[in-house]
Amino acid sequence: MCSQELLGFDRPLELIRHTHRRLEQRCALMQRLLGHLNERGCDADARATAGHIVRFFEEEMARHHEDEELAFYDAVVEVAPSKNRSTIAKLVVELRDEHERLQAVWRDVLRPQLTAIMEGRSQALNREAVDRCQLLYVDHVEREEQMLLPIAEKRFTREQLERLGRGMAERRNEPYPGGA
Ligand SMILES: [Fe+2]
Ligand SMILES: [Fe+2]
Repeated sequence: MCSQELLGFDRPLELIRHTHRRLEQRCALMQRLLGHLNERGCDADARATAGHIVRFFEEEMARHHEDEELAFYDAVVEVAPSKNRSTIAKLVVELRDEHERLQAVWRDVLRPQLTAIMEGRSQALNREAVDRCQLLYVDHVEREEQMLLPIAEKRFTREQLERLGRGMAERRNEPYPGGA
């Protein structure tokens, strides 16, 4: 929550970038947790770290995917220069599909394993799933930042930025800066 409070929903594109940095940190944290579990087993630190990662993906990343799928992606396609609009539209279809695949790795493997670690019931964490999640996200975020965010930063109107930011605030039940 502190990220939103520091930046504010009136700066939605910076918030999107900020969430990407936090995501990269959480992926690195999952890698460190693998090593920690190997060396120290499921101790109090491992349980706390697992809980931290679960909350991040269940709350912040779930909302982030919604922000992109319900508002950001379509708005970028809408303002994209006509000469590359079809490329951007195609990219957005791929990115939506990747959200599904990322969600499947999280839901089917990482969430149940991390929840069991958090609750001290197991110390199993699948390295392949952690690697896959990290690799998929690195590539996914890179394309969002290289292909979509520059268009949004250059071409979104003040109204579009406000609509995006207000939607983000609403999905988190948080106030929009300056009131309604
Ligand atoms: Fe995304
Ligand atoms: Fe993203």
